[in-house]
Amino acid sequence: DPFVSNIYILPLSYHNMQIMHVFIYKLTFKPYLVGHGDSCCNPLSMGAIKKMIEQEIAGIYVLSLMIGKNVVEDTENGFFLDVNHQVSMVCSQLAQDPNLQGGYNAMGFSQGAQFLRAVAQRCPSPPMKKLISVGGQHQGVYGLPRCPGESSHVCDMIREALNRGAYSDLVQKHLVQAQYWHDPLNDDLYKKHSLFLADINQERSVNETYKKNLQQLETFVMVKFLQDSVVDPVDTEWFGFLKTGQAKVTETLQESDLYKQDRLGLAAMDKAGKLVFLATEGDHLQFSKEWFDANLLPYLR
Ligand SMILES: *[C@@H]1O[C@H](CO)[C@@H](O)[C@H](O)[C@H]1NC(C)=O
Repeated sequence: DPFVSNIYILPLSYHNMQIMHVFIYKLTFKPYLVGHGDSCCNPLSMGAIKKMIEQEIAGIYVLSLMIGKNVVEDTENGFFLDVNHQVSMVCSQLAQDPNLQGGYNAMGFSQGAQFLRAVAQRCPSPPMKKLISVGGQHQGVYGLPRCPGESSHVCDMIREALNRGAYSDLVQKHLVQAQYWHDPLNDDLYKKHSLFLADINQERSVNETYKKNLQQLETFVMVKFLQDSVVDPVDTEWFGFLKTGQAKVTETLQESDLYKQDRLGLAAMDKAGKLVFLATEGDHLQFSKEWFDANLLPYLR
């Protein structure tokens, strides 16, 4: 497939693409983990968040976990590597880290949010206590309304590859975006071939282990950006999505079969008061320090 080879030869300088990465933050007292949709080392994005948290929580020790060996490789992996493989890499690092053995809180930005949910579902040890999803895409995306780096050919190439073969095994394994692609018009294809999202969302079968592990969370916070122009549909940030079979009308998590049949334990968590839905003004991942301090920091203390 020519698109697959195109994807492989992309230049490595697209640091603003919506890629996936993970930080692990070790705290002196309360370890937590941060995953996000950017390269681990971009000082304009996650570096600023890290600093903000360090200022607010005294004595914090921060460890950033890179999947590659350097920033370029890290960025490249976030873009190209099989997410399932990334999750298992992170799980084994967590299991080996003596500072995390008492448990940790986790915060994921953009694609990092559903990544960390997969970590919670698949890797109960050490235990994740709280999961904060900031602009995550828990039901995937359908569309790239404003692909970061719009002026480049990369966005067009990704769209084209997704339209042509989002569910081919090759594209699924090597393009992270494809692993979050949820086409409501081709629901059967999605359920059958989505290697990552359909698996963690129990679309093919119910894995009782996922259900049990997710319910071990004390709190699962989901933040939605009301003017988000990157994530489509924005309902996915609260675990909603487009109703199957069409691409206009959306449904909330509570209206979905996933919830009604409680395939993932979310209904039980909701009844137990463990789900927190927050909304904020602003575009994708745009929030003020004041908002962060007032709304998210309390969950990290
Ligand atoms: C369920 O998930 C666990 C944790 O990832 C995994 O070890 C197990 O193989 C899965 N079971 C099935 C039937 O897929």
